[in-house]
Amino acid sequence: MKTTRRHLLAIGASALALAGTAITALPAFAADKPLVMGFSQVGAESEWRTANSNSIKDAAKQAGVTLKFADAQQKQENQVKAIRSFIAQRVDVIAFSPVVESGWDTVLREAKNAKIPVILTDRAVKVSDPSLYVTFIGSDFVEEGRKAGRWLIDWARKNAPTGDVNVVELQGTVGSAPALDRKRGFEEVLQAEPRLKIVRSQSGDFTRAKGKEVMEAFLKAKDKKIHVLFAHNDDMAIGAIQAIEEAGLKPSKDIAIVSIDGVRGAFQAMAAGKLNVTVECNPMLGPQLMQLAKDVVAGKPVAKRITTEEGVFTADVAAKELPNRKY
Ligand code: AHR
Repeated sequence: MKTTRRHLLAIGASALALAGTAITALPAFAADKPLVMGFSQVGAESEWRTANSNSIKDAAKQAGVTLKFADAQQKQENQVKAIRSFIAQRVDVIAFSPVVESGWDTVLREAKNAKIPVILTDRAVKVSDPSLYVTFIGSDFVEEGRKAGRWLIDWARKNAPTGDVNVVELQGTVGSAPALDRKRGFEEVLQAEPRLKIVRSQSGDFTRAKGKEVMEAFLKAKDKKIHVLFAHNDDMAIGAIQAIEEAGLKPSKDIAIVSIDGVRGAFQAMAAGKLNVTVECNPMLGPQLMQLAKDVVAGKPVAKRITTEEGVFTADVAAKELPNRKY
């Protein structure tokens, strides 16, 4: 069982009460006060991220959690500052979605020394000591990359049964868990079909503007015909669709497009016949995060990794699914 500062206060108060000591002057009701969570968000780079931030803010209100929300504008240094400020404010629990995977050991050790539990949401970290965070809740990004790869192999067998299939890849933020893992999962699956070749790969930083810019450069190169675009998120795919159209080509027909997230914008693009498929990545982590935070602070045992369930949506189901989408 994990022991947190709030948990210790509650245990201490009950022990003293049992010993017959007056509890009025003690922090005996600390455990009943609203839980205070410091949350450091990556930024506002995508439709997915907006839905994720809204889910966390709404769930905090619903759960009676006092949320201190900090937007890091895609910068690790801002996240480190925010975490240090949460430690200085003595919040009950820190949660964050790390912009990149590495470089967290020092600040997480500071949180641990201050006895403030840390929950990772959405993106994982690489740390030398796994006890620096309590638990991680989010998607299996490697599996998302595999799902994109499996869809592509199936598509290629049906639509381009012979010859090389040239794939361009728009990667997410350099050094981020989803960019590294999705690439890994996608490449792993593509090994089964060596004629599917990634001929260009560059980061579009998970944004529409960068996705468009990088796709324009891919199209301008003209040395290799592009058959397929694999975008690590829907926003970059939507930006790339604009670039493809401006180049006089038909997205999804002249260039097949597979992307990840399953945001409403992707369903609209599929319904309009401009995107072939999106692999779901669920941003609605708020309610589970609040429950998890309460459990952690109460000292209840929690799983080290909690993975969200996700599907794959193709263009043929987009129009029917669109009204059901929550983000
Ligand atoms: O970490 C999740 C990824 O971050 C989403 O796929 C992307 O849209 C977001 O920016």
